[in-house]
Amino acid sequence: MPSISNKGRHMPASPIRKLVPYAEAAKKRGTHVIHLNIGQPDIKTPKVALDAVRNHNIEVLAYSMTEGSEQYREKIAAYYAKKDIQVSAKEIIVTTGGSEALSFAMGTIMDAEDEIIIPEPFYANYNGFATAAGVNVVPIPSSIETNFALPPIAEFEKLITSKTKAILICNPGNPTGYLYSKEEILQLAEMVKKHNLFLIADEVYREFTYEGRTHYSILQVEGLEEHAIVVDSVSKRYSMCGARIGCLVSKNREVIQTALKFAQARLSPPTFAQIASEAALETPQEYFDAVIEEYVSRRNVLISELQKLEGVKVAVPQGAFYCVVELPVEDADDFAQWLLEDFELDGNTVMVAPAAGFYATPGLGKNQIRIAYVLEKEQLVKAVQILGKALTKYNAR
Ligand SMILES: Cc1ncc(COP(=O)(O)O)c(C=O)c1O
Repeated sequence: MPSISNKGRHMPASPIRKLVPYAEAAKKRGTHVIHLNIGQPDIKTPKVALDAVRNHNIEVLAYSMTEGSEQYREKIAAYYAKKDIQVSAKEIIVTTGGSEALSFAMGTIMDAEDEIIIPEPFYANYNGFATAAGVNVVPIPSSIETNFALPPIAEFEKLITSKTKAILICNPGNPTGYLYSKEEILQLAEMVKKHNLFLIADEVYREFTYEGRTHYSILQVEGLEEHAIVVDSVSKRYSMCGARIGCLVSKNREVIQTALKFAQARLSPPTFAQIASEAALETPQEYFDAVIEEYVSRRNVLISELQKLEGVKVAVPQGAFYCVVELPVEDADDFAQWLLEDFELDGNTVMVAPAAGFYATPGLGKNQIRIAYVLEKEQLVKAVQILGKALTKYNAR
């Protein structure tokens, strides 16, 4: 039989995928599974976006421009201007989700064997994009003890080699919920300038910041124009994960020109989804106010319930809708599987994402899980009750 590639062999599977068969089996047994493991918001997509698709009378669903429709990019630039980010339509490439923006970014600036430093725990798919690009991820640990704040710059500098091309951050963070402060961003900016590196910021959760905190984008840093690359997406912002629209933004012309060649190879981003995403930009601020209020109250309920459990430590998220929780178990992978295979409370159990898959350093995060609070509060309370009872039973075995 012809053989597959080494790259294919090394392509990481999703860290939660291996639990899916156990969740399916639990459901077949009649157990209700509460999903704390997925980042699919249950919030409704703005009506303006759906109406734009419903009311369209397109006769030929043609390709769009490779870089996305000009009208849409102009409106994205206007959206950024409202966030105090000055970019023009020419500095934006519309992509098929933030995912494609991430792979374009890596392809554009990195060759095989180059290194990218990423604070861990990080969004697990970064491993997949890095593997596809032949790039090596160099993790730098952040800690639950500091709420996953930016590691000291000196620690980054210890990891910089002649192969280092970029630092990648996610702000606010999935899975940490940490929101980097302006000071932290400025420290990173100084460092990348000093070492002549790119700084890629995945800002797909930009809107989701809590308690009046404001998001500070790397595109707002003066003097960072040639280094900064932003990855963005409509998926979470407008609860439009299925639209598959995102963008790559940079003021570095060479980056945009090169990324455009990668974009040309896939012809165009989806046409209908751009129509929906363009209309989504008209979403009234009240929509976001209501969504943020909902997430804050979910977060508060979740955190206060978790803090009642003995031996459980939780990093309080300041943004996005995830948190990392340390459990009084040795192996959260085993616990997560056991929850699905061997435990139920009144016909219910929970599915969590073991956090080890969000770390690149072997052994880190072994006793941690990631929870996504994209469920209603009653479900979250019930889920934590189940977790509490399950932990007692699991540790008494
Ligand atoms: C941090 C982060 N970046 C990027 C993505 C990719 O999103 P999409 O391709 O749907 O835009 C996700 C999706 O969950 C994410 O959590």
